Amino acid sequence: MFKQVLRLPLWLGELVTGSKSFEANPLIGSRRLNRCGLHVARVTLAHGIMRLRMAMLGWGVAREDRRQFIRQGFLMKTNFLPEEDYQALVQEVSEAKGEVRQCCQGDAQMRRMLLSPHTLAGMPRTRALLRDPAFRRLMRYCAGHLRMPICHAERVMNGVSDAPEDPQKRLHVDTFQPTMKFWLYLEEVSEVNGPFVYVPGSNRLSRQRLAWEYAMSQQARQHADRYTARGSFRVEPEQAAAMGEAPPRQFKVPGNTLLIANTFGVHARGKAEPGSSRLALWGMSRTNPFIPLPGLGFESLNRLQYRVLEHQRRQDDKRAAARGVKASWHRIEAGL
Ligand SMILES: [Fe+2]
Repeated sequence: MFKQVLRLPLWLGELVTGSKSFEANPLIGSRRLNRCGLHVARVTLAHGIMRLRMAMLGWGVAREDRRQFIRQGFLMKTNFLPEEDYQALVQEVSEAKGEVRQCCQGDAQMRRMLLSPHTLAGMPRTRALLRDPAFRRLMRYCAGHLRMPICHAERVMNGVSDAPEDPQKRLHVDTFQPTMKFWLYLEEVSEVNGPFVYVPGSNRLSRQRLAWEYAMSQQARQHADRYTARGSFRVEPEQAAAMGEAPPRQFKVPGNTLLIANTFGVHARGKAEPGSSRLALWGMSRTNPFIPLPGLGFESLNRLQYRVLEHQRRQDDKRAAARGVKASWHRIEAGL
């Protein structure tokens, strides 16, 4: 009880951050508070503030793109780079020598190379893309923040073990707040290697979505699905149908396609054949959703977020080593 009293200020503080776990924070998970509308209030406020921030960052982004992202929750651009630049980028990423970390989720394995300033120093093509002003405007608009997303080169490997199915292959939402993720696919994506799946329009805060959020918030803390209990609600197909304006769409796309999605919308990693994989540049931005200003875009802050993540990873390595296990994102010797 004494411990709980000590933790109360922390739990209260987390209410105005992106903290999402119903399991870890008894205030976020409180059935009584959520019956009074705590979760729904956080969802609604986060959305209102995100729209405001996006409105501030719309300059230089085509009106059509802005509308599409707000109405449908995703933006797709095929043939994103000139063919020659694309081919050179694929080669550069395939041969890159940065630190590779791996994480297993169910029967899937993700390998990621953090595109830190240090790693990018040896990757001129990738660096040029991530510094391209038009690309940056698009990222910043969709993220509703001036800080650039944290970027990785990523390979997702499907069906590599007998573990239960990859949990990301079930329809879900990532969190209670708008969150931007992007993929620039460096190879074709098909039903073989698992196309991204998204329910168009499910990013919108419709009456059905709010009712569902309200219902889920009462049961999430005790939910049998641990991802739901941690605030990333899994979605049944009939619920997904009610929240979107069209059935789930599979993004079977050629390489050199840029896909940006708001993962507050209902999505999944599509089914794939065991042994298949796909390579992409991948990035995400999730910032405090309760600050009504779009942050600062200084390069020093962009660089700092990589140092912070690298430090966290090293700390995770040490903690895991002390327990005689590997960190969930552990270093591997193999490349991507
Ligand atoms: Fe997700």
